[in-house]
Amino acid sequence: MHTSPTVLITGANRGIGLGFTLAYLARGYQVIATCRHPQQAMELNHLTAEYKTQLHLDKLDVTVENDFARLKVKYADQPIDILINNAGVFPEDHERAGIAHTRYQQLISALTTNAAGALLTIQSFQQNLLRCETPKIINISSQMAALHHAKGFAYAYRMSKAALNMLTCSFAAENKHIITISLRPGWVKTAMGGSHANISVEESINKMITIIDGLTRDDSGTFLDNDKNHCAW
Ligand SMILES: NC(=O)c1ccc[n+]([C@@H]2O[C@H](COP(=O)([O-])OP(=O)(O)OC[C@H]3O[C@@H](n4cnc5c(N)ncnc54)[C@H](OP(=O)(O)O)[C@@H]3O)[C@@H](O)[C@H]2O)c1
Repeated sequence: MHTSPTVLITGANRGIGLGFTLAYLARGYQVIATCRHPQQAMELNHLTAEYKTQLHLDKLDVTVENDFARLKVKYADQPIDILINNAGVFPEDHERAGIAHTRYQQLISALTTNAAGALLTIQSFQQNLLRCETPKIINISSQMAALHHAKGFAYAYRMSKAALNMLTCSFAAENKHIITISLRPGWVKTAMGGSHANISVEESINKMITIIDGLTRDDSGTFLDNDKNHCAW
């Protein structure tokens, strides 16, 4: 690969992940765009024609350990400047599902994808990040992770994003070289955010990339909204 900066994005085939992919390609980055089903990722496949030397499309289901093993080998010597843990699920049947409507499988799905998946991603690419001068890990979190924001619904999603925030704090404490943050995209018009959300993917991405660009080691271990305000855990 080339010597321009490299970003690895999970869940890159649609929504916020696709937005990050488009924005970093436009900025000249090498983009390792990962998703569960690359052959079905229409937008990413179209982009590979336009960005032949910049876009690297790979299969990564963040709940499948073998997928990580394969990518670790493929990218063994590749420095990665920015890792974006974006892949996520909101498995509740409806947003206001209380505890009686929370199914075990929904809880497991949220925890394995949103929290464990992010841990496995960091674990797999830590060495690639350590090859860079100012590496950054961006864990895409949510206001729904905040303990003070707890409401009596969306248990699976809230618990998983709170766990993701703990991953941010723990890894920031363990590794002082890599800047690790939890970042809130805002309420974004995607399949997950719905059509009533108040910002577009482009607006959210522009704000988040401005923040990512300006991160310093003092920011590591923080939970930020898309205006770079510090959020309560
Ligand atoms: N939209 C909002 O308002 C909002 C607000 C706060 C936080 N967020 C967070 O932002 C992130 C992106 O959300 P979005 O709004 O773009 O949602 P989205 O449109 O539903 O996209 C979710 C993405 O995650 C991928 N994904 C799900 N499970 C995966 C797995 N096991 N392995 C790899 N990829 C997987 C999906 O892939 P498939 O196409 O294969 O399903 C898809 O690419 C999520 O972490 C979400 O929690 C969103």
